[in-house]
Amino acid sequence: MSANNTQETKPLFQRLSQTIVPTHYDLTIRPCLDKFKFSGDVNIHLKVKEPTSSIVLYAADLEVDNAKVKSPSNDELHGKIELDQEGERITVNFDHKLEKGEYELALNFSGEINNRMRGFYRNKYTTPDGSEVRFGASTQFEPADCRRAFPCWDEPNFKATFDITLITQKNLCAISNMPIKSENELTDDKEWKVTKFDRTPIMSTYLVAYVVGEYDYVETKDSNGVSMKVYTLVGKKEHGQFALDTAAKILPFYADYFNIKYPIAKADQIAISDFAMGAMENWGLITYRETALLIDPKFSSMDTRQRVAIVVAHELAHQWFGNLVTMDWWTDLWLNEGFATWIEYLAVDKCFPEFDIWTQFVADTFARFLVPDALKSSHPIEVPIGHPAEIDEIFDAISYSKGSSVIRMLHDYIGDDAFRKGLHNYLTEYSYKNTVTENLWSHLAKASNKPVNEVMSSWTLQMGYPLLTVTEEQINKTRVIKIKQQRFIADGSADDENLQWKIPVTVFTKSNPKQIAQQILLEKPETTITLDNILEDDWIKFNYNSIGLYRVKYEFDTLARLNEAISSKTISPQDRLMIQNDVAALCNAGHQSFVDYLKLLPSYTDEDNFTVWKSIASNIGDLTSLLEYTNYFGEFKKYRLNLFSSIQKKLGWDADQNENPLSAMLRPMILSIVGKSGDQDVIDEAKKRFERHIAGDLIDPNIRGAVYVIVARYGDESTQEALRKLYFAADMTEEKVRLLRSMGQSIKPEIIENTLKFVFEGDNVRMQDSISGIVGCTSSCDGRDLVWKFLQKNWKSLVERFGDKSNFLIAFVEYGLSDFADEKTASEIKSFFESMNTPLVARPVKKALETIHMRSEVLKRDSKAIEEYLKKQQ
Ligand code: BES
Ligand code: ZN
Repeated sequence: MSANNTQETKPLFQRLSQTIVPTHYDLTIRPCLDKFKFSGDVNIHLKVKEPTSSIVLYAADLEVDNAKVKSPSNDELHGKIELDQEGERITVNFDHKLEKGEYELALNFSGEINNRMRGFYRNKYTTPDGSEVRFGASTQFEPADCRRAFPCWDEPNFKATFDITLITQKNLCAISNMPIKSENELTDDKEWKVTKFDRTPIMSTYLVAYVVGEYDYVETKDSNGVSMKVYTLVGKKEHGQFALDTAAKILPFYADYFNIKYPIAKADQIAISDFAMGAMENWGLITYRETALLIDPKFSSMDTRQRVAIVVAHELAHQWFGNLVTMDWWTDLWLNEGFATWIEYLAVDKCFPEFDIWTQFVADTFARFLVPDALKSSHPIEVPIGHPAEIDEIFDAISYSKGSSVIRMLHDYIGDDAFRKGLHNYLTEYSYKNTVTENLWSHLAKASNKPVNEVMSSWTLQMGYPLLTVTEEQINKTRVIKIKQQRFIADGSADDENLQWKIPVTVFTKSNPKQIAQQILLEKPETTITLDNILEDDWIKFNYNSIGLYRVKYEFDTLARLNEAISSKTISPQDRLMIQNDVAALCNAGHQSFVDYLKLLPSYTDEDNFTVWKSIASNIGDLTSLLEYTNYFGEFKKYRLNLFSSIQKKLGWDADQNENPLSAMLRPMILSIVGKSGDQDVIDEAKKRFERHIAGDLIDPNIRGAVYVIVARYGDESTQEALRKLYFAADMTEEKVRLLRSMGQSIKPEIIENTLKFVFEGDNVRMQDSISGIVGCTSSCDGRDLVWKFLQKNWKSLVERFGDKSNFLIAFVEYGLSDFADEKTASEIKSFFESMNTPLVARPVKKALETIHMRSEVLKRDSKAIEEYLKKQQ
């Protein structure tokens, strides 16, 4: 049966009726960790708005029985439960009609504490001395897995209050959204206790959380008196201190920015050993994977610190934007995630100005969506979501990165004062309620008097973004500039749909490089602007600080004049990095030759900005994986070495005292590129430091990852053995992941094969960390082949193992397959996935195929010219 037929025969997904509405849940859960089972009962207060003889609610993977309803007059009715497994629902049928009024529905249920990282699931950990394996249990409910833990109205707009009770073994911590109200011995078993929690605010089911296990914590109060804890495994509570201090600064920052008090008496955070995502914003009890929360003051890298600050800032933002005010349906998930991704930068900038994080926004977040959104297989930010299973597909760069970039552009367009005012009004009006995107636009429009809705809809309702083609002419002292907009498509093809945007366009010039010379809202396909009092040789640049969502294509001379602005660093790092980023994209699309890109990069030789280098490194990385397929790759490696050498020499191996954190992040990035480019001094020094490291003289954590990569690359089986030994000895997940990433970066195919075995066989590597192992393996063309063979051979078992968390499968396809550059492999991939029929990865496969096609076209078109250019340089 074809996929289409299957869809036609499936009943359409339907949301629950709004005629029965829950207002409150009394929930009791009793987990038995030794049997991986839990039992529970729930008493749900309901408003029945129309007479009915049945009640439909969600339940999945649960045994539910003993349904009873208490009527307004206190009569008790027994119901019969009917199961709809496919729809993940139950229907409770009654002999009599329930008239309009308030009822209480009581249900008993039981289920498995599963190993699939969704619903109520188990976490594996070892005791502090490493001698014993133990299990705890925690919840992950977003988007639609609360129904796997207790029967409920599991859609975001059925908000209710929750009184939660946990019955657990006495020696375990029992933690939930709210502070503990009471803790008592269980009357019939002294080994157990009953923990009751305060009533939650009115909230959605996906935000309910509870955790049971052995934990330590550090604690504090924020400046508004909110009690805050960070929970870690026993013996590791110091690793929670950094996140705690960060959160204690950021929580009051948001309360002030939104001008709304944090609504709960406590804000806890906890590191969970088995965790599928990065983090989850459960109200009052945020859960994290270990690497996104824990910092070892001695052995964590600067990079990890920055990441932790970012993730904490993101999840805390959701406490208002998402938890207090919630999207009506998953269609608006992008707004939740896009907004939190934007404001996490605002908060980190406030607390850690030294990270210069807004510049990093441009390289990490802005430039990140520009790549997939240029593919024909992209999708608009706002996509209608039917079944919540479709959400994994939009858990992507478009929702997060484009979403946040759109908000950054809007914030800039209406200004901070209007933005804050509108935001406050929006959050106040919809507190404890649900909302849709347009409601935010209306409030921002009202506060700013600008046509927010009209401007924004061109960005959220259609996919892609424009390329501005700029041509200029000097007439006396005036520059006459023509601007044309059309969709930028990755492979350079024309846009059949002729999409158009409403674009806030800015331009600035050499005579006043720190100020916008002209700002327009471009609403037409073409326009002409003029700049007065400008000299013939003066450069002009569009998109001041790279805030607008567009790329720019300049004429040869216009671009050439910008060389000076780059090398003198007159323009901001955001602008410097986007100039080369746009040129690289235009080269990929065939608008110009990659020789132009290679000729442009020397203007960056004296660059010292971390983020600018990061963006160059990322483009050079793409080019590396492409030119690896040519016979002049050696010449390219020399070019690359030359490009990065002077900054490498400037930074050296060891940190200066009190050096800026950005240098600490730049050094390892440059070292690993230079090492991979074959710089013998760097390779030798890495080997030396690695030997000393094994002997106990530990490498500075900031450069440790780079050293691992270099020694793994040029090392043999004994190096691998040393890496594996370090892996088993490591007690920080951060260190384990660092090692996993390096292992597969060998140039020896048999070592790469061993790495794949190490990652997937046995239980060396936790499911959520396996992707780091794969990423390392794909760093060479041999490795890519091996990963592809491995995926083909094991696809069915991977789907079985990871299918529930399809974001893993998506990552395998995206990281594993996009770096090929030939049509033959593309057609292999295409027919393989056609035969496998795994709809979960349909979109990523399409994306990978389009990318491979684009890359193979670049080689066909440009290879000769690049070869000639590189050979002339030697
Ligand atoms: N709410 C999300 C996690 C989520 C999204 C769960 C969609 C289920 C469906 C959370 O706030 C989040 O965005 N986490 C990110 C990390 C964040 C810092 C970008 C993650 O897990 O990668
Ligand atoms: Zn989020």
